[in-house]
Amino acid sequence: MHILRPLFVVLAIAAIILIARSIWIPSDFGIHERGYTYGWYRQSNIEEWKNFTVKYQGREFCVTCHAEQVQKLTSSKHKNIECENCHGPALSHPADPLKLVLDRNRELCLRCHTNLFYPNSQRSQIKGINPDQHNPGLECVLCHNPHEASKPR
Ligand code: HEC
Ligand code: HEC
Ligand code: HEC
Ligand code: HEC
Repeated sequence: MHILRPLFVVLAIAAIILIARSIWIPSDFGIHERGYTYGWYRQSNIEEWKNFTVKYQGREFCVTCHAEQVQKLTSSKHKNIECENCHGPALSHPADPLKLVLDRNRELCLRCHTNLFYPNSQRSQIKGINPDQHNPGLECVLCHNPHEASKPR
């Protein structure tokens, strides 16, 4: 007899879980076209992702209006760096925001060009300078063109 009591408790818990599940899980969650392996999702989530605002556009998007900068950057040592890495997300620029940021602070460049000594990391292969010795107090873009990654202009 005493062995049956825990059994009832287990059955009661299972029943509560099943009831809670039917209340909480949205009706459109389940198996869809692509079967159990890939089709196990909530149908309305597709529309939610379609409406998701894309923040970053990539440089192909800039070329229609800023061809000069794209052309320069693409043929420079900065060719692997996305415009939006320095100018921030385009969102729906030029509608909103009309202009993207021009950040002329040394910090913009120093996050990649401060000399670090991690011999095993690719980060240390980027040419580095010591910010305390390399023209302290002056903006980097006073001497270097960011789009051409050039030695002083
Ligand atoms: C449909 C055209 C268009 C596209 C596409 C576009 N821009 Fe612009 N951009 C503009 C206009 C217009 C301005 C404002 C120009 C002005 O009045 O100086 C502007 C301003 C800017 C500025 C500020 C320039 C300054 O002198 O203050 C930056 C930086 C910029 N855009 C970067 C980008 C980047 C990066 C992309 C791609 C992710 C991009 N833009 C895509 C049209 C465009
Ligand atoms: C390494 C950082 C960096 C990258 C990458 C970069 N920019 Fe810039 N950009 C700057 C800075 C800093 C300025 C301000 C330069 C100055 O005032 O001398 C600037 C200026 C500009 C301006 C204002 C006009 C001009 O030429 O000075 C535009 C437009 C612009 N960038 C667009 C772009 C586009 C489009 C791309 C990608 C093809 C891009 N930038 C990539 C840092 C960057
Ligand atoms: C996201 C990382 C990143 C940022 C931000 C960045 N750079 Fe670079 N820079 C690189 C890489 C990668 C290279 C190519 C590898 C190399 O030559 O060191 C490079 C190359 C250069 C070179 C050429 C070095 C040489 O070989 O002679 C100069 C100069 C330079 N960057 C200046 C700047 C300036 C100025 C800024 C800020 C406006 C800046 N960089 C921002 C990553 C960056
Ligand atoms: C007053 C002008 C001036 C300013 C400001 C300046 N630089 Fe330079 N930079 C130079 C000159 C000149 C060289 C080439 C001679 C040398 O290697 O020192 C150079 C070289 C470099 C190099 C290549 C180093 C190498 O090993 O070949 C990098 C990277 C660099 N600067 C990044 C920066 C960054 C990042 C800033 C801002 C924090 C900056 N520079 C500010 C003048 C300047």
